[in-house]
Amino acid sequence: MSTLRVAVVGYGRMGRCHADNVRKLDGLMLCAVIDPALPQVDDAPVYAGISEALDKENPDVVVVAVHTFLHYQTARIALEHGCHVLVEKPLTLSVEEGRELIELARARNLKLMVGHCLRFFPAYRKLREFVENGKLGKLRYLKLFRHNESPAWGDWTKPEVARGSGGALFDLAIHDIDFTYSLLGEPESFRVVHANDRNFANRLIESFWMYPDNVEVAIESGGIFPTGYGLRSGGWALFEKGALNFNGFATRFEVCSENGTEMVDLSNEPDGYYLMMEYFTGRVRDGGELRLCPPEESLHTIELCHRHMRENFCLDGEGEK
Ligand SMILES: NC(=O)c1ccc[n+]([C@@H]2O[C@H](COP(=O)([O-])OP(=O)(O)OC[C@H]3O[C@@H](n4cnc5c(N)ncnc54)[C@H](O)[C@@H]3O)[C@@H](O)[C@H]2O)c1
Repeated sequence: MSTLRVAVVGYGRMGRCHADNVRKLDGLMLCAVIDPALPQVDDAPVYAGISEALDKENPDVVVVAVHTFLHYQTARIALEHGCHVLVEKPLTLSVEEGRELIELARARNLKLMVGHCLRFFPAYRKLREFVENGKLGKLRYLKLFRHNESPAWGDWTKPEVARGSGGALFDLAIHDIDFTYSLLGEPESFRVVHANDRNFANRLIESFWMYPDNVEVAIESGGIFPTGYGLRSGGWALFEKGALNFNGFATRFEVCSENGTEMVDLSNEPDGYYLMMEYFTGRVRDGGELRLCPPEESLHTIELCHRHMRENFCLDGEGEK
């Protein structure tokens, strides 16, 4: 197996996570880290700018883990250089820019995948299994939540970064929006009770997606919680013949059925970010389709976020400044 050279752009919280998985996976080599705020890392050369790094190190894969407002330009440079790209979510805030990146990747025959990590997280994969295998009958209702403290680490305290992240809708709710779309497809209709305002403020979002046969999904996400609250995520699902209740970190996954309540042990499952890196680089290697996370679906996820903004019932017209 030939070694894939991987460069990571942005070595903050997510960049470090991706770099660690590159270090763990066989057949991958961290060939460069690009971050102007970083003096050095132990095992790879550090660059302040992407172009110099790509020219000198010639990576096969570039992981884009800079803030959202830099995704488009960074991914574009990497694709133009002939690199496959794994870009953090959201692909971009603008649908047009996202589409351009997908077309560029297609034209150059390069892989482009967005880090919609829930598709790889054990608890959400287990939930998908129950929806698809019918062991508890048909799904009737699904609730997904994601509560975070207002981010105060890395570059998040800079106003241009906070503004350029798209707020709670594009930064947090997008995880559950993307997962729901991947699980159940396009809803018949949806209703948004609170949503980001036009300035992408970090408020609480609640949306209700309606599917045929009165199947309903409720999504609740917000980055409004105080420092120290951390990130809490998970959900519950009601089926014809039972229910699930889980947290997003897979430390609890309960199955309630006519046989009683069973705890599913997911503690030995590999971490979702690891699985995501393994999956993406696997498809780079074998040329296969990115079926678990196609870029066109990630683009549609951005469209769904924009629809949430348009269909928000509770905005006063001005929103928060
Ligand atoms: N998938 C997830 O679970 C998840 C979780 C958190 C964040 N994210 C996404 O990851 C991205 C980064 O978020 P984070 O929390 O890691 O941010 P962060 O502030 O911790 O890190 C960002 C890093 O980018 C560096 N940087 C800034 N400008 C740069 C440039 N021009 N070139 C190279 N590096 C540059 C900064 O110095 C910083 O180290 C965002 O798009 C966010 O939406 C995803």
